[in-house]
Parts: sequence; C-alpha cells; structure tokens
Amino acid sequence: MGRSGGGGPAILLMSAVLVAGVAVCDGKLKVGFYSRSCPTAESTVASVVQQFADADSTILPALVRLQFHDCFVKGCDASVLIKGGNNNAEVDNNKHQGLRGLDVIESAKAQLESECPGVVSCADIVALASRDALAFTGGPAFDVPTGRRDGKTSNLRDADVLPDVKDSIEVLRSKFAANGLDDKDLVLLSCNHILLLLLAYYIIASVDHGGELTMATTLYNFPLPGGRKGADPTIPESFLSELRSRCAPGDFNTRLPLDRGSEGEFDTSILRNIRNRFAVIASDAALYNASATVGVVDTYTSMLSTLFGPYFREDFADAMVKMGSIGVLTDRAGEVRKVCSKFN
Ligand code: HEM
Repeated sequence: MGRSGGGGPAILLMSAVLVAGVAVCDGKLKVGFYSRSCPTAESTVASVVQQFADADSTILPALVRLQFHDCFVKGCDASVLIKGGNNNAEVDNNKHQGLRGLDVIESAKAQLESECPGVVSCADIVALASRDALAFTGGPAFDVPTGRRDGKTSNLRDADVLPDVKDSIEVLRSKFAANGLDDKDLVLLSCNHILLLLLAYYIIASVDHGGELTMATTLYNFPLPGGRKGADPTIPESFLSELRSRCAPGDFNTRLPLDRGSEGEFDTSILRNIRNRFAVIASDAALYNASATVGVVDTYTSMLSTLFGPYFREDFADAMVKMGSIGVLTDRAGEVRKVCSKFN
C-alpha cells in the first residue's frame, strides 16, 4: 500500500528556496568536502534520489527518517545500514520498524564507487540524500557539511536508545539533549512529520515494538486515573470521534487523512495541529505537554513570526544540519565502506 505523492520531485526542487545563513561547518565537517576528491558526489546522490522518487515518491520521507535513525544511534556513522545475517545488527532492532531507503543509499554508493572508488562515505550519502529528499518535497534547500566516515560497529541493542512514540515529553527532551539537541531542535525536527502530512496518509494502526497498536492505545486503552482505560484525555472530543470512527479497536490497516490545513505546503501547519491538539503521532502531541516545548510551538505559530521571525524554514534547516553532526567520525576514525551494508 503506497502513499500517493504530489507533483514530480524536479518541479518541487525548483520551488524549493535556498536558505541562506545555515551553519556551514561543524568541527571537521565542511561544505564541499568532496569538491576535489569526487566533484560529482553531491549531484550523483541527488540524481539517484530523484530516480527512486520518480518511481515512488514515498521514498522521500523514508530517507529523512533514515538519517534520524542513523544519527541517534551512536552518531551519524551509517551503522544502521549494516546487514548482520543473525538478526543481531542494529537495523534488526524493532525501533527501526518500517525503515526504508537503504537500497537508495546502496545504489548511490555503487554509482559513486565507479566514479571515485573508496572516497565518499555511506554516512555522507545518508546525510545528502536526506537533504535532497527534503528539497524534493518542497522543504528548504540547504548546504550539508560533509566529511563523515563510516562506523565499524553495529549492535542490535544499540538502537534501544531511539525515541519512542510513547515516551513522555521529559524522556523525549532528555533523549534529544543526550545528542546535543535542545527543545527548539526537538520541536523543529519533529516537524519532519510534515512529510507524512504532505503525502496525506499515515497508517494509524501501526504496531509498535511492544506489540500494541499505537493509535488504538491512544484511542481506547490509554491509562486513566483509578486504573481505568479509555481515550487520551488531551484529544479534543470532536477529533476523538473522528478518529474513533475511522479506527475501530483491533483495526490494523486503517489510514487517516492528515492534510488538515496543510494545503500541500512544507510549513508550520503541523505545529498549529499540535497546538490545537490535532497531532496524530503521540510524541508530536507530547510537544504540547511541557512549557519549554509549548513555548517553541507557540513562537513558530504566532502571527508575528512570519513577519519578524524566528523563521521556520531557516531554523528547520539549521536543526537538520545540527542533527547531521551528531557523533560524527572524521579524519582517520572509522572507514569509508566499499559497500554500505558491509564493513570493509
Ligand atoms: C521525537 C521522536 C520521534 C518519534 C517518537 C517518531 C516516531 C515516528 C513514527 C512512529 C513514525 C511512523 C513510522 C511508520 O510509518 O511505520 C515516524 C515517521 C517518520 N518520522 Fe518520526 N519520530 C520522531 C522524530 C523524528 C525526527 C527527529 C525525524 C527527522 C529528523 C523524523 C522523521 C520521520 C519521517 C520523515 C517519517 C515518515 C517516514 C516514512 O514515511 O517512511 N521523526 N516517526
């Protein structure tokens, strides 16, 4: 069951605005790291992403999520791409359920190995592909500092640290803080769920790693005072009846349209939905449960911000660059893999 996409990525890329003022360098990463050693690196990644997106535009959000899952587990080192064989690799962890786009990275890598063997790391391809995917979806275009190297470890349990939909806002904040990301980053990066809005449908009855139905838990089995179970009390009554009419208990495959007011734009509509208690992913809804993140949501949804800032698209791009710098390996650390799914 594929989600339907909008116009072609090429058109969307043309409409993307190049954001100025994005951080250009983090530590030893730098924009244009491959300009001499492999001048085609960035254009090759972009064209491979485009080829895959032409066949299935739902690959675009998958590539952005792939970068998040790579960076939050032991840094942005492409460890998530390693295939173990004994179900013991990081990628086999249930936290990565539904992760896609690994074949896109492998395909770009194969092409780059023929153009400049042993030069471009898989970790950089993940970061570049995510950036391109955002631009192709109408998000901001921005420079990505490169120079990451690939990690040499991949362990099943390492991915336990990934944020979970059921995490409280305090747990989410601490998991982001552990990666050097603050409340603003948490809110802005969660806005990547716009991509689900843009593609209009989200499987609401997906099974989480505990084997429960995420949405069904929220609608029917949310723990209430006195040991009772019912609907999450923060969901407004009108939205609750709409959700319940679409998602019956035990429903595994229901899809819910999520285009409430987004009108196909990569904009702050997701934050307005969160503010108005129309968030569907529980971790997004949780952003309105702590004053620190409520303040960030309110800032970006205020009338004044469009005129005087803070500017959503620019700050979103900054947060992506920041996330892409988590725990990077540079210089002689790690390696540059020949094949992304295998250590050298
Ligand atoms: C704050 C903690 C977060 C939680 C608990 C969370 C959880 C989820 C869940 C449950 C899904 C649905 C997966 C599926 O379809 O099976 C999802 C999708 C997605 N997430 Fe998040 N997420 C979080 C943060 C982020 C961040 C920081 C990013 C990017 C930087 C991100 C990007 C995405 C994207 C792009 C999708 C759509 C993937 C696709 O369509 O294949 N998420 N997320």
